[in-house]
Amino acid sequence: MGSTYMQFAIIILLTGQLTHGHHWGYSKEEQAKWKEHFKSCGGHRQSPISINEAIGRKVRALKLGNYNDPLPGPLMLHNNGHTVALEIAHPQRSQSVPYVANGLLTKRYQFESLHFHWGEKNDLGAEHILRGKRYPMEMHMVHRNKNYPTMEEAMKHADGLTVLAFFYKLDENDNKQLDQLVKHLPRVYAPHANITLTETFALASLIPSSEKRRSYFMYNGSLTTPPCSEAVTWIVYSNPMPVSEVQLNKFRSMFGHDSHTKLINNFRYVQDIGSREVIARIPRL
Ligand SMILES: *[C@@H]1O[C@H](CO)[C@@H](O)[C@H](O)[C@H]1NC(C)=O
Ligand SMILES: *[C@@H]1O[C@H](CO)[C@@H](O)[C@H](O)[C@H]1NC(C)=O
Ligand SMILES: [Zn+2]
Repeated sequence: MGSTYMQFAIIILLTGQLTHGHHWGYSKEEQAKWKEHFKSCGGHRQSPISINEAIGRKVRALKLGNYNDPLPGPLMLHNNGHTVALEIAHPQRSQSVPYVANGLLTKRYQFESLHFHWGEKNDLGAEHILRGKRYPMEMHMVHRNKNYPTMEEAMKHADGLTVLAFFYKLDENDNKQLDQLVKHLPRVYAPHANITLTETFALASLIPSSEKRRSYFMYNGSLTTPPCSEAVTWIVYSNPMPVSEVQLNKFRSMFGHDSHTKLINNFRYVQDIGSREVIARIPRL
């Protein structure tokens, strides 16, 4: 009986591994292996990067369309084992999906989802390093070029995606706007938990005011998770938003892929900038 049980357990372990495809993780050793299974992860246009030098350019404002309108609900919050993501459950049914356009973008990019990267300590977590500083958390708002019907298709094209990146800096007080999401986190602590939110809100409520979004950095890069598709125009805002330690601890209480380990330090190490340029926007009135 003992051996039958053992065989059963082994089969479950094996099938678990197979159905998750190539398992990937964030430890130094695991990150070094991403490129073995996902070729793009070893490419020359990878993200994140450390932003130091940038070329100042006068660029007209980015348009964040529908950002002040409530997101078309229902919204879904999902622990995918690597991060917590918010998405619109049925985006195709609505005209009011947020989008970004203008600035140096030549296409219109529709909001797809947002997610976070954080660390176990307050000096770790963000993916991009800004002038030598690593913030405790970074939010990514992923947008898909409307010319491509799906994320899968967009990921195959150099102009497929635009990601807006926002940093958080430690503050004594809670970020009340962020609490719109943080208050739901305990319900998605378990890996692969999905919940539908009964309320909705405007994306603009999660980000700095337009005045504080005037300066940003822009460069050509990739997804920061496998398959590391080199399809992303990155727009990295320099003004951080506040987050309290209490709020950070709620992110740190989530469980990852392997339900025995806390989901922390889900950031990729910085990649070589190579011959790429970073553009620093100088507001043009
Ligand atoms: C949760 O949502 C994600 C993203 O939409 C989906 O891929 C996944 O199948 C869902 N999982 C469950 C258990 O409903
Ligand atoms: C990104 O690549 C495109 C196409 O090669 C180029 O036109 C654009 O200037 C690049 N953007 C940045 C910010 O370097
Ligand atoms: Zn991300």
